[in-house]
Amino acid sequence: MQDDRVITTHELEEDTFEQNIRPASLDEYIGQSEVKDNMSVFIKAAKMREESLDHVLLYGPPGLGKTTLAFIIANEMGSNIKTSSGPAIEKSGDLAALLSSLEPGDVLFIDEIHRIPRYIEEILYSAMEDFTLDIIIGSDASSRNIKINLPPFTLVGATTRAGDLTGPLRDRFGIVSKLNYYTESELTEIVKRTSRVLNCEIDDKAAAELARRSRGTPRIANRLFKRVRDYAMVMGSGIIDLKITKIALDKLKVDNLGLDQTDYNLLRAIIERFDGGPVGIEAIASSIGEEQTTIEDVYEPYLLQQGFLKRTNRGRVVTDKAYEHLNIQK
Ligand code: ADE
Repeated sequence: MQDDRVITTHELEEDTFEQNIRPASLDEYIGQSEVKDNMSVFIKAAKMREESLDHVLLYGPPGLGKTTLAFIIANEMGSNIKTSSGPAIEKSGDLAALLSSLEPGDVLFIDEIHRIPRYIEEILYSAMEDFTLDIIIGSDASSRNIKINLPPFTLVGATTRAGDLTGPLRDRFGIVSKLNYYTESELTEIVKRTSRVLNCEIDDKAAAELARRSRGTPRIANRLFKRVRDYAMVMGSGIIDLKITKIALDKLKVDNLGLDQTDYNLLRAIIERFDGGPVGIEAIASSIGEEQTTIEDVYEPYLLQQGFLKRTNRGRVVTDKAYEHLNIQK
């Protein structure tokens, strides 16, 4: 997979370096008003009771602010946060070490929680339910079960695929929140906030254009902002206006609805090689050389939401709107 693309599944290093672009409190967090309002009540109530917040599951497409919310939750609770991810937890010992390092009230954030192997996941059940760590020590005849008490803590799990979570794990989250794509006006606000934080001026039209082309995703808006800022500094006056924004985004091959080269390849492949569909996800993936999960988690949700693609029980079908957008006769 090429690394220089603007639309990616994962956080890039530059995203983590620029933590300050991220809002630190619920008040600063733009959009997702339902999630925010609910969370604010749950946090206040937990603090009034002097208890840890119930476990939270955040799900939705990548880049919508699941990690940001986890940090905000810890901040609002006045707690420390420890972070890990499903793929990093390879052995039961990895999870046991994480859990036994927790202090009272800590937030444990596990990203991509659906990727924890099943047999390891079971350790989480008693940890979440009774704050106990149940592990088997040793092997064969000498093995023993031991129980360790854990301090009260809050697990915040994030996943792009709530459906891949097992029932028993999902049931142990008291708070389950879905993050949705942001509206253009919310993204415009986010872009303006980023402009203030990075101390780089952007005019209203440019901010709206950036928002429109960021596929409802703050992570993409912020990444595009930085690339447009580069163009404004080198080719313009340093202030981001509509003209420089259009030039930069066209150079980055991000179209007026935020579709990039991979979206085009995907839609074209279905049209040209599979007659517009229906076609299975495996065939699409191998035809354009992308991981199936990348297509399912990153590209497809936006194409579905924008009405370029439909899912049927016989596979994916390209819509008339896609033919029109790509300027291809049916
Ligand atoms: N940066 C990334 N996501 C954000 C959000 N939802 N609100 C404010 N700034 C953000």
